[in-house]
Amino acid sequence: MQAIAVIPGQPDSVHLAELEKPSIDTIPNGRGVLVEVLQVGVDGTDKEINAAEYGGAPPGYDFLVIGHESFGRVVEVGDGVTELEPGDYVTATVRRPGNSIYDQIGHYDMTIDETYYERGINLLHGFLTEFYVDEPEYLVKVPNSLADVGVLMEPMSVVEKGIVQAYEIQRRLRLWRPKKALVLGAGAIGQLATLVLKLQGLDVVTMARTPPPHLKSQLIEELGARYLSTEEIDLSEVMNRHGPFDIVFEATGVSWIAFKAMEVLTKNGILVLTSITGGDAKVEIPGDKVNLDFVLHNKVMFGTVNANREYFELGVKDFAHSQSQYPGWLQKLLSHPVEGLGEYEKMMHLLTTEKQAVKVFMQLKSLNGS
Ligand code: BGC
Ligand code: ZN
Repeated sequence: MQAIAVIPGQPDSVHLAELEKPSIDTIPNGRGVLVEVLQVGVDGTDKEINAAEYGGAPPGYDFLVIGHESFGRVVEVGDGVTELEPGDYVTATVRRPGNSIYDQIGHYDMTIDETYYERGINLLHGFLTEFYVDEPEYLVKVPNSLADVGVLMEPMSVVEKGIVQAYEIQRRLRLWRPKKALVLGAGAIGQLATLVLKLQGLDVVTMARTPPPHLKSQLIEELGARYLSTEEIDLSEVMNRHGPFDIVFEATGVSWIAFKAMEVLTKNGILVLTSITGGDAKVEIPGDKVNLDFVLHNKVMFGTVNANREYFELGVKDFAHSQSQYPGWLQKLLSHPVEGLGEYEKMMHLLTTEKQAVKVFMQLKSLNGS
């Protein structure tokens, strides 16, 4: 079967590779599940892996099949599987457990192991292929009513984790009633973060580079949030006019913005960092001022990566909630479909050049498998 792969360490090596169709027998105790891939989303991580900024091939291979945002349909299950059956729609978690204590309790997204395993990113093949096999523990059922947006579940899980963790951390305050949020970035993560914060009842300002109007700004406004362009207004001005913010969710992929964001938090506020920055940019910051402000006002900044199945399940709930609150909105995030694995060059091209793409995704088969 075909797969879209890169040769880790070699820039621009994206190509079509041949893989053997996997079998459920490779998983012990009859726990194998064979999934037919229907759609796969791509993001900055795929772009950076193809730019050879990171990424590793599985042992025994010189290539890595990419794609970590999956949506598919179960076609076969082993005797030991009770959780799923053929015909079920599923999405898959990305990271697989290592050895640390966190891995052992199902919190593999919190691993402290030096080496981590992520499908489509590091040491495990991803989902941009025709079929894959996995264990039910790592497959999350998506109800039929959400099938057309199921491919967004992985980015949604990253957002859910970030926001849940922020609330967990803020339990230190005994009673935290956030009212204003700032989301930085209006790509898929920024859009979904705006959605979740709106569903929580917050006032949200979302900022990205391009001046409105355009698809990304329209989507933000459809949620009842305010879109502002970083080219038209400076962060400190945004703070004066609309802030300061109880929660800032950073998802621009640009590290200096993350540091700038430290300055717009309110007292007791929390800054969530989610950008994967594979480069080596340096930033200059007003250290004394920022430090003093964090100390005097009990502020928090934390990083968050990946998600375990708990956050995928939360994502399913919030997607259902979103479909009643903002019908048809999630569908609009799926802005740039590409059809067929053979179109990998077009997929990478859109990913690197189309600034207005909210989500570029590969459509392998229609949702009913044809
Ligand atoms: C993925 C995460 C992953 C992270 C780091 C992101 O693009 O969505 O699941 O943990 O990259 O590799
Ligand atoms: Zn990702």
